Amino acid sequence: MNIKNANKFILVLMLSVFFANTNAQQKTIDQKVAALLKQMTIEEKIGQLNQYNDDADATGPTTVDNDKANQIRKGQVGSLLNAKGTVRTRSWQKIAMESRLKIPLLFGLDVIHGYKTTFPIPLAEAASWDLDAMQLGARIAATEASASGIHWTFAPMVDIARDPRWGRIMEGAGEDTYLGCKIAEARVKGFQGKLGDINSVMACAKHFAAYGAAVGGRDYNSVDMSDRQLWEVYLPPFKAAVDAGAATFMNSFNDLNGVPATGNKMLQRDILKGKWGFKGFVVSDWGSIGEMQNHGSVKNEYEAALSAITAGSDMDMESRCYKNNLTKLVADKKISIALIDDAVSRILKKKFELGLFDDPYKYCNADRETAALNNTTHVAAARDMAKKSIILLKNENNILPLSKALKTIALIGPMVKQLKQNKGFWDVDVPGVDSNFIVSQWKGLQNKLGANTNLLYAKGCNIEGNDKSGFAEAIEVAKQAEVVVFSMGEKRDMSGEAKSRSDISIPGVQEELLKELLATGKPVVVLIHAGRPLVFNYTADNAPAILYTWWLGSEAGNAIADVLFGDYNPAAKTTTTFPRSVGQVPIYYNHFNTGRPVTNDKEHLYRSAYNDLSIYPKYAFGYGLSYTKFEYSNFALNKKTVKANETIEASVTIANTGKYDGEEIVQLYLKDKVASSVRPIIELKDFKKIFIKSGESKTIKFVIDKEKLSFYNTQLQWVAEPGDFELMIGAASNDIKWKEVFELVK
Ligand code: NOJ
Repeated sequence: MNIKNANKFILVLMLSVFFANTNAQQKTIDQKVAALLKQMTIEEKIGQLNQYNDDADATGPTTVDNDKANQIRKGQVGSLLNAKGTVRTRSWQKIAMESRLKIPLLFGLDVIHGYKTTFPIPLAEAASWDLDAMQLGARIAATEASASGIHWTFAPMVDIARDPRWGRIMEGAGEDTYLGCKIAEARVKGFQGKLGDINSVMACAKHFAAYGAAVGGRDYNSVDMSDRQLWEVYLPPFKAAVDAGAATFMNSFNDLNGVPATGNKMLQRDILKGKWGFKGFVVSDWGSIGEMQNHGSVKNEYEAALSAITAGSDMDMESRCYKNNLTKLVADKKISIALIDDAVSRILKKKFELGLFDDPYKYCNADRETAALNNTTHVAAARDMAKKSIILLKNENNILPLSKALKTIALIGPMVKQLKQNKGFWDVDVPGVDSNFIVSQWKGLQNKLGANTNLLYAKGCNIEGNDKSGFAEAIEVAKQAEVVVFSMGEKRDMSGEAKSRSDISIPGVQEELLKELLATGKPVVVLIHAGRPLVFNYTADNAPAILYTWWLGSEAGNAIADVLFGDYNPAAKTTTTFPRSVGQVPIYYNHFNTGRPVTNDKEHLYRSAYNDLSIYPKYAFGYGLSYTKFEYSNFALNKKTVKANETIEASVTIANTGKYDGEEIVQLYLKDKVASSVRPIIELKDFKKIFIKSGESKTIKFVIDKEKLSFYNTQLQWVAEPGDFELMIGAASNDIKWKEVFELVK
């Protein structure tokens, strides 16, 4: 045997040992689950399917229940949500250990963008297009949360959202399916690492499914959509989450085409557990089993429980329908015990995989908790993610970055000295932690600048309301400064769950104050804080420089200062379309062509247009500026025809011709020119985020395979149809630098 073959042999041997071990381990877990199941009474089995809220932090209607401890002791509860901290989780677990079979509790929590160290809201992070950074953010959130006794986060939310009125748009990755899949994968992997490791938490892909398409952008609302759109736009990020190993799924509040998702057998049993082979478990959303009565799809809780368990919802979050009805459903022979056994086994399996049967307090270690929550590496990563999430929307005459030699800067606006606002919705209030660890914008600038710069402050106005009494002071302060930084936006809880808005403009009199600040003739840089794309035409058209700063988390102030003064060159790009009026909503870049398309705003008669408004967005998907300039050249395709079993490669050279080093997000789009069903005018199919030093250039290559050319036809078959494809490479969906056609041949 030569050396090469010997190496191969050793590799094969090692792999077989590895797989044999994994199989053996899995087998033992399956055997342990089966053995435990045999010992369980039906009441104990149903207990595992029952999840209660701890007494604080309800995110839905609560049931007053002073008997939780007793129920846990009797083995009637499988999981708690919203219990936080080693002290609290340990005390509940202790009670579970008094139960007959000592089955440990699972502690679940919405750890959406960090635990103590708060990262930017997910939509902001998505704007970085930086998958590694997002994965790291999730990893750090998991490290902190798991050290605090948490086993399971209800994240990532992988709902595609095309409607900024919907408050939960802040919680996802935006409007694009391809990017949504990549981010879903990064976040699942980040949260979970290797399940069972001490700093890992189970991920939960939610909300299954199509919750982001709620009619009118109103939370919890109905969804009505074609199967083709469901499969092509809304389901793929969930599939990506399954493929990345997501341990759990959560179903959604909405009905889908008349069937509540919670009782939707097609979604949960047929697609998720059937076609996709998902081996984890599904938790309902808060009370959503009982809420099927309000939908009108069931008469009472008994029918609600029947509908949900049959459809494949394994765990009941807070509705108590399972607890009160499953025994009778079995006795009435409406469901088999096998159905319950399957749900229980899925949950027990995860408890075994987490190692909770070996040590129910495995994740409850006060020392580890203290160390994890005070980890400076976590803080540095949060700052890094925050600066990567800031989008430079406008920069007339290169007013940014600001010079650190400025003598006087005025910081004006209702957000400047805020702490908690910066954390955004779905932040976690960690027990015993006060808000002083959050870096305000005021503090961030103080940290950045030396004693030679005089920082002035005026609040000017509130976020909401009509009070202009602070305007005069703000204008006076502005007049004394060389540059004004005006910080405005929505409140942190104007987006998030149940935070839909019909008016998505900047609230209150903030834009009126901006007008007066601009009238002073001073250069004004505007920071916009929000959990969604807002409408701010006055600002967009009149302010010389705009940074979209979202909610950046606990390091917000430092990150904003990094970008304002050029210690970081902004690179983020939008992942949702920014409308110019709420009347354009839903507006998204990858729409179909109509029979009467619009090619410009002037010729709209008898065209698919508005008579009173442009059809074009204010900022298109994929848009964002940099302090430097990137030039695209040397475009090439390695062939003009491609067979389905081959790949085709496109390459491009990007040169940084500006003064600053920086990153560019290069985007690859495709359009299937003629197909058996109408195709979008443009679709993101790949991207690369590259760092290029000033004066240097890089050549990158995209590889296009059959997968990227495929779509769901009207029979819901995933097909790549022969014919012409247009390939586009650009800096944004509306900034295409190069187009070329190639043909897919049989
Ligand atoms: C309801 C929300 O829809 C869901 O996303 C969240 O995980 C649960 N409440 C628990 O807080």
